[in-house]
Amino acid sequence: MPTLLVLLVLSSVFNVIDPSSAAEDFGIDEKAVSYSGFQVWSVTIRSNAEREILRTIIDQYDVEVWKEPKTDKVTTTELLVVPQVQKELKVKLTQAGISYVIKINDLQAAIDNGNAKHNMSSLNTKAGHSMDWTSYHRLSDIYGYLSYLASTYPNRVELINIGTSYEKRPLYVVRIFNCSSPVVKPAIWIDGGIHAREWISPALATYIIRQLVEVPANAALLRNVDWYIMPVMNPDGYEYTHVSNRLWRKTRSVTSSTSCRGVDPNRNFGYKWGGLGTSTNPCSDVYKGTKAFSEPETLATSNFIKGKASSIKLYLTLHSYGQAALIPWGYDVVYPSDYSDMLALAKSAVSKFTKYRYSVGNAAALYYPAAGGSDDWAKSIGIKYSYTFELSDTGAYGFLLPASNILPVCQDFFPALDVFAAKVATLKV
Ligand SMILES: *[C@@H]1O[C@H](CO)[C@@H](O)[C@H](O)[C@H]1NC(C)=O
Ligand SMILES: *[C@@H]1O[C@H](CO)[C@@H](O)[C@H](O)[C@H]1NC(C)=O
Ligand SMILES: [Zn+2]
Repeated sequence: MPTLLVLLVLSSVFNVIDPSSAAEDFGIDEKAVSYSGFQVWSVTIRSNAEREILRTIIDQYDVEVWKEPKTDKVTTTELLVVPQVQKELKVKLTQAGISYVIKINDLQAAIDNGNAKHNMSSLNTKAGHSMDWTSYHRLSDIYGYLSYLASTYPNRVELINIGTSYEKRPLYVVRIFNCSSPVVKPAIWIDGGIHAREWISPALATYIIRQLVEVPANAALLRNVDWYIMPVMNPDGYEYTHVSNRLWRKTRSVTSSTSCRGVDPNRNFGYKWGGLGTSTNPCSDVYKGTKAFSEPETLATSNFIKGKASSIKLYLTLHSYGQAALIPWGYDVVYPSDYSDMLALAKSAVSKFTKYRYSVGNAAALYYPAAGGSDDWAKSIGIKYSYTFELSDTGAYGFLLPASNILPVCQDFFPALDVFAAKVATLKV
């Protein structure tokens, strides 16, 4: 009984201070989606004929594509296969001579096992915040950490509220800089969590924040460069993946469809909006929205970045999965005139990775054209270096990368920032 009482008291306290509680009016506590019996199949395509056959099968059975095939002749694609069609799909693929392996046998089991319990013993020894990088955290933990940093390190952290999400959660950017330095420095922008289910992205963004703010050995990274980091651009979607549907990708805005919510924020930016790789169907995972920047999240973010466009020299957006550094343009296989500069820097950054191998190339060529992406938009407003990084893995777990991978991924990634910072430091504001 006393435990229950404590829980009740705690929960009422958290309802006041937890930024996620605003969501209660929006039906976030609707019944959680179960993925029991769902599978992820990795299908290998060896010819254009096989590519065509697979496309027909995907359309016929309305299969969700987790990872699009690359344009190479021999390539793999990953499909989310619902229990009802597994048998028939096996027959079809076998008949066509297309080989596949079942990567995830039961998606719900992978979801249930993917996030470690927070380490209470380590939490209890720490003051001020509840972040660790051995589990994926709710938004309240992440925002709590940002507030903790801003109040603990006022001489190098500024917490900037740039607006509110559709469900009225605050949108936060942290600026990390030396506040006693009088000069305006060239800056690096990093965002995470555009896509809700890509949990490794906010995990890495918060890890980078921690390294820059709390690890004295990294002070050199602040000497010539300022940092703007937005760890969760789509907080409504992120919370929704924690509470209701682990595989949610989009925002949570109401659409013209009564049964389908959300816009793909990475099809909602205002450059070549509505082009290839986007959908007008509100039920699609790549729904572009009713207009460019229809979503408060993309609108606030773009307005903030535009306001700093003269100092931000590098735009980096973190996604998963696939292990690739993608370079604009993404709206089609088109190369900016300074593509070779962008490519050289990306290759140099990726060469710092020792544990994970990344492919590097034009976004549309390496994957598929997709218009309205944030990286294209950033490039279009004159930010010379603009990249989308698809983090780990390459498909073993995909979006459900187990929490035990957070630290290895983050530790491997961080040295790439030396390369980016060194380049940006040479650019004039
Ligand atoms: C939990 O944290 C404690 C104290 O920091 C540490 O000794 C222990 O190894 C951690 N356990 C796990 C499972 O990470
Ligand atoms: C911050 O800037 C001031 C003034 O330029 C400088 O003296 C100081 O060393 C800088 N601090 C760090 C940690 O770089
Ligand atoms: Zn993504």
